[in-house]
Amino acid sequence: MPDDFERMWADLAPVGRSAASGGYFRQPFAAAERELAAWFLEACAARGLRVETDAFGNTVGWWDTGSGDAVLTGSHLDSVLDGGAYDGPLGVVSALAAVDELRSRGFLPSRPIGVSVFVEEEGSRFGLACLGSRLATGAVSWETARELRDRDGIALADVLDVDPPVSNGRVNLLAGVGTFVELHVEQGRDLVDRGAAVGIASEIWPHGRYRFDFAGEANHAGSTRMADRRDPMLTYAMTALAANKQARLVDERATFGRVEVVPNGTNAVPSRVSAWLDARASSDESLAELVATVTRQAQERAGRDGTEVEVTAESVSGSVTFDPALVGRDDWPVIPTAAGHDAGVLSAAGIPTAMLFVRNPTGVSHSPAEHAEIPDCLAGVHALADTLERLSQ
Ligand code: HGY
Ligand code: MN
Ligand code: MN
Repeated sequence: MPDDFERMWADLAPVGRSAASGGYFRQPFAAAERELAAWFLEACAARGLRVETDAFGNTVGWWDTGSGDAVLTGSHLDSVLDGGAYDGPLGVVSALAAVDELRSRGFLPSRPIGVSVFVEEEGSRFGLACLGSRLATGAVSWETARELRDRDGIALADVLDVDPPVSNGRVNLLAGVGTFVELHVEQGRDLVDRGAAVGIASEIWPHGRYRFDFAGEANHAGSTRMADRRDPMLTYAMTALAANKQARLVDERATFGRVEVVPNGTNAVPSRVSAWLDARASSDESLAELVATVTRQAQERAGRDGTEVEVTAESVSGSVTFDPALVGRDDWPVIPTAAGHDAGVLSAAGIPTAMLFVRNPTGVSHSPAEHAEIPDCLAGVHALADTLERLSQ
């Protein structure tokens, strides 16, 4: 079993990896991610798992044993831009390796077990987090999602030939699913600090992505007096500082990690700046309060700069509370996460869901520095196999 895991891991390592940074560019429906999707189909076929794919590219490999509601386990294969190797793929490879382990134990589940891959979990191309699982659960309609566009203006509808374009008569991968378990690399240092290889998720913090459009007046960088400018870069810069200060004040999270400047010239005052706020908080109320405060501060600053600001919520995920008892191991630490996951979407859709975390010695994620040691990964596979066995007795 260990060599199964390590062989699969080695197979995936080079796919979509940047030689410059060592990070991964596995954006949905682009070459590297499609290569991983093909790899997953082969891995399912090699195990005799019946493959089912829905109209959006979400895929499940079914181990058709027993009867009744299925136990589903899996994660995602797409990455953020310049991401780490583990966020997503660790859950998929571990799920396949856990099926291998159950079989090597001679265990025969009394209910079906599925290994799933949801597409565009990161929202790194079309902007909506957990796009695949939201479509699979109906949390977002195809009519809405089809209009989402990537940075080149390409619409999801032009990437996916969803047929039929309405919800009836379409494969529903989750129809007979009773429980979902997602194994994921920890995106933090909790397990490191506790000296534990494996943990259980207690909750996912509410979080959202908000596009701030700052409009000003394009002008000459030299001949325009400072007093005559309506510079959106200034309003953006003060908003980024204000968001950081406000998050620290209320002990929540706020990040501006993505900015687009028009026309992005060196010797011109920009006409427009678009910036994306990623905000996260320990409660839905605190999240709403944080975003409202930053929005108000942006508008006040715009008034002083003679610019305008418009805020659009592009992706909002409410708080999720898991039931650790679903895993049934009180010797594993139970820890919260401020990272979003498909498990949160399935839980919000009413499917009893659990998450297992695997220790990340760096605590870093959404970065090439993200890491997990092989022995901890194998401990995760073992823990997932135990959990699947318990749930599919
Ligand atoms: O952004 C997140 O929290 C997750 O990694 N998609
Ligand atoms: Mn992620
Ligand atoms: Mn993830």
